[in-house]
Amino acid sequence: MLRTHTCGELRPTHIGQHATLSGWVQRLRDKGALLFLDLRDRYGLTQLVAREGETDPAIIATLRQLGREFVIQAQGKVVERTAKNLDLPTGEIELELSALNILNPAKTPPFAIEDETDGGDELRMKYRYLDLRRRPVRQNMELRHRLNREIRAYLDGLGFMDVETPVLIKSTPEGARDFVVPSRMNPGEFYALPQSPQTFKQILMVAGFDRYYQIVKCFRDEDLRADRQPEFTQIDCEMAFITQEDILQTFEGLVRHLFKTVKGLDLPAFPRMTYEEAMRRFGSDKPDIRFGMEFVELNALAQGQGFKVFDEAELVVGICVPGGAEYTRKQLDELTEWMKRPQIGAKGLVYVRCNTDGSLKSSVDKFYSEEALRSWAEAMQAQPGDLLLLLSGPEHKTRKQLNELRLEMGQSLGLRDKNTFAPLWVVDFPLLEWDEETQRFYAMHHPFTSPKPEDMHLLSQDGQAGKVRANAYDMVINGVELGGGSIRIHERPLQEKMLALLGFSPEEAQSQFGFLMEAFEFGAPPHGGIAFGFDRLCAIFGGADSIRDFIAFPKNNAGRDVMLDSPAPISEAQLEELQIQVRNPEK
Ligand code: AMO
Repeated sequence: MLRTHTCGELRPTHIGQHATLSGWVQRLRDKGALLFLDLRDRYGLTQLVAREGETDPAIIATLRQLGREFVIQAQGKVVERTAKNLDLPTGEIELELSALNILNPAKTPPFAIEDETDGGDELRMKYRYLDLRRRPVRQNMELRHRLNREIRAYLDGLGFMDVETPVLIKSTPEGARDFVVPSRMNPGEFYALPQSPQTFKQILMVAGFDRYYQIVKCFRDEDLRADRQPEFTQIDCEMAFITQEDILQTFEGLVRHLFKTVKGLDLPAFPRMTYEEAMRRFGSDKPDIRFGMEFVELNALAQGQGFKVFDEAELVVGICVPGGAEYTRKQLDELTEWMKRPQIGAKGLVYVRCNTDGSLKSSVDKFYSEEALRSWAEAMQAQPGDLLLLLSGPEHKTRKQLNELRLEMGQSLGLRDKNTFAPLWVVDFPLLEWDEETQRFYAMHHPFTSPKPEDMHLLSQDGQAGKVRANAYDMVINGVELGGGSIRIHERPLQEKMLALLGFSPEEAQSQFGFLMEAFEFGAPPHGGIAFGFDRLCAIFGGADSIRDFIAFPKNNAGRDVMLDSPAPISEAQLEELQIQVRNPEK
């Protein structure tokens, strides 16, 4: 080997020994008579030292030729440092150089390979291998590796079996858009990359595999956000002969195991909240419950007093911001403008300051007596010094807008601490979601999710299908949907009925999902499962918002790999072989 130790290994116990290290030049400090070089590898930094008059002049000459990121091999004696650096694990020793070998010179890197770098996003992505040399990025990848290992240890321990499922599958109309792959041997036909291995894992249950998992790449051609990549990784799991309760217990166990082993945290049992309750209390199906500011409905107290905006609204609802009375008029105007941006689309924002002297001051003083405002403050359990923020409008939309406001206020008051972890289960999701635009139902989770047996009768009643709840659940941590799953349909007639409700003709249902429905006729056990977003899990554990920092080679916001410069055109010959004609976008 080109080294006897790593750059993070040497300690005072090695003093007097000879060692050979290999790594990258972090920095050279040339003080004339004394030269120091910090040598870096994945494991840490070690200081090398050379002295005029003591060290071989050839070594000193070589040292002076070195640039940042040169790859070198260094030999020497481990000695005690006079000026110790106790912030560094190797900071009590240094290596007195007796040989130095340049293994490969390097061009000057386009950005500083330091914890805090001057490189912008695009540059860091283009030279991702340099970015990955930086400690914070490397530590994210180490965290990912550690989590991966612990996930496998936990699931292996419970008898889950890792089975690989295909990547070239078939496009289906449900869910997000598919990435498609042309088939040379079948001109004009396409594979699709899986959005998840959903149907395969169900088929594995029919095959009797009983407990399956896979840490698996999934592909979705959807708009990107901080927590979305076109290719991402799921911890995909399925179990047979279980109830919803078994799934919740097993996978709450997984997440608690990860917090325990990777973060040393013992989390209490995860609270559970129905979808209906989450929407009512927080206006979101993924509530951040690290802080309060729960919704309070004020229709009864605020309507019928002449303020038309409230009187005509389906819902008047507010939050109480602790300590918010200090907000200035200017800040409140800014907040109102922020709420009116098209991304949120609120028409306005009503506020009531609960001053510390007990008086109340609102933006709707014209319409409401102080007594009326006091009744709101009481309903919202406001204290002197708090601020009430109220919205009104159509029920669903208003709740969603107030959710944005609540999160924003939580953020600006520092209540969303990344070292606090507040997981919960959201259960009893609706089975179906009505889409006004296309005038049809969509499956809220996916078309294989089972209705709750107690709601099954509503499926066949006119106009009631939207009320059917599903045995579907999400795990949410700190306002992030970490995972979701459901108990599945395992009988052909119910699956047929479900697909019909979703607008599939019998022929379409057969051609898209005939294989699954046929499998259900050959002895399908009751089954269910869940999939976690592995990248999101890593980001939560790493205290970050963006999953990109936890993926070795991520795509940028336009879905491009800037290192490879992909996607890219292919040659005429390839196109011809695939019998694909590309329309020239210029024409
Ligand atoms: P679902 O679509 O909810 O369920 O996905 C499961 C989890 O995957 C993560 N996720 C993503 N992460 C990063 N980038 C994306 N584009 C992205 N899309 C989803 C989320 C999400 O909770 N087959 C079902 C699971 C099941 O029913 O068992 C499924 O895929 O964290």
